[in-house]
Amino acid sequence: SGERSKDVDYASGDRGTRVRVFGRVHRERKQKEVIFVTLRDGYGFMQCVLTGPLAKTYDAVTLTRETSMMITGEMWQVPPGAHAPDNRELHADYFEIIGKAPGGEDAITNKVQAKGDAQTLLDQRHLVLRGETAAAVMFVRDAVEHAFNVRYHELGYIKVAPPALVQTQVEGGSTLFDINYYTEKAYLTQSSQLYLETALPFAGNCYCIEKSFRAEKSLTRRHLSEYTHVEAELDFITFDDLLTHLEDLICSVISIVLSNPRMAKHLQELNPNFQMPTRPFKRMRYSDAIEWLQQHDIKNENDQPHTFGDDIAEAAERRMTDILNVPIFLTHFPVEIKAFYMAKDTLDPRVTESVDVLMPGVGEIVGGSMRMSDYDELMAAYKREGIGAEAYYWYTDQRRYGTSPHGGYGLGLERFLAWLCGLHTVREACFYPRYMGRCRP
Ligand code: 4AD
Ligand code: MG
Repeated sequence: SGERSKDVDYASGDRGTRVRVFGRVHRERKQKEVIFVTLRDGYGFMQCVLTGPLAKTYDAVTLTRETSMMITGEMWQVPPGAHAPDNRELHADYFEIIGKAPGGEDAITNKVQAKGDAQTLLDQRHLVLRGETAAAVMFVRDAVEHAFNVRYHELGYIKVAPPALVQTQVEGGSTLFDINYYTEKAYLTQSSQLYLETALPFAGNCYCIEKSFRAEKSLTRRHLSEYTHVEAELDFITFDDLLTHLEDLICSVISIVLSNPRMAKHLQELNPNFQMPTRPFKRMRYSDAIEWLQQHDIKNENDQPHTFGDDIAEAAERRMTDILNVPIFLTHFPVEIKAFYMAKDTLDPRVTESVDVLMPGVGEIVGGSMRMSDYDELMAAYKREGIGAEAYYWYTDQRRYGTSPHGGYGLGLERFLAWLCGLHTVREACFYPRYMGRCRP
């Protein structure tokens, strides 16, 4: 095995440190007497220089991008003007080709990514990921997921692993993926919330980071069929505690990510305009949002002025967030347009103790609420929703065996990343996106 690019000690600038590196040719530039190779190994990039007889070998003059190779030589420190990543160069005295690539792989360059048509790029996703921008998003994604784990563990939350194969719905029957479960009917889970609630009595505050699945029958910039859902459930809290926790979580996660210099650099390149949100986040009740939309002449889905009880659709929500241009806690949605499990507001039973977190450029990234903690109320909610209570006995039991005021939320990781990295669509935040019409590669 060779050194990874990150392990090589350039700081000392010692001319003469001998190294052996493995990687793929990210770029190559052939001149008469010298060949420059930018080698990529996942940790970073290293400029390698082939000179003399080495630059005249058949393998060197026919070197193609994406070819995998091993190079040995001496590390040199070079001045900033030399355009070598991190001002270092490997002066090769030997190299071996490991896997030759066919060349002409323009599709993987960032330049072509910007020009190429979206479907081709998605078909070629396995190659596109080798480009700097797509890879940077994947690195930030890893750092963000790690940061959520770090923050939850700092807070003492326990991570649990709810099942993906379920027999209950959470967010309405219209987006369920049915599956054949031996002889029984089952679904791919839409949310792990109900299971998380049952963890509270043994775990206390808890969370999970799992896949959720939605058979979304529309193509938008922010809907996927399979997405990563960061969900948490908090015990013995008030609605206000929930909002305070969410502000803390979002800001803490960003701070943790930014404290990693490599991630700070990726973010700066991906989204130079990113600004850390200021706390407290703007709070806006649903009823005030309806008034605001009326005042700004933003129409509902039927092209009519918004009225109380309307869904605030994606387009209207996006306009609102773009105009206000700060994170918003949109709260107290009407009972009719929200999920069956949401607790009603004690002062105004027309509305729920619910919150959507809206971010500029994306809109909703979090949906959360206090949960009904009363047994009879929950039974009535099943009835209203047309849900057969039998399949939910384990969820209902939560209200029989020591119920509690509790609440939680789900955050779409890809939407969070779209906001953080300034991406046009959530698809760019996925390793391999899944949405209506796409299930490959
Ligand atoms: O608002 P949603 O549907 O809420 C729930 O599923 C709750 N049961 C979560 C909970 O309280 N534990 O979804 C939560 C978040 C949304 O705000 C959004 O960020 C993301 O999940 N989301 C999607 N992301 C990508 N594609 C989709 N089709 C999504 N549907 C929801
Ligand atoms: Mg929602």
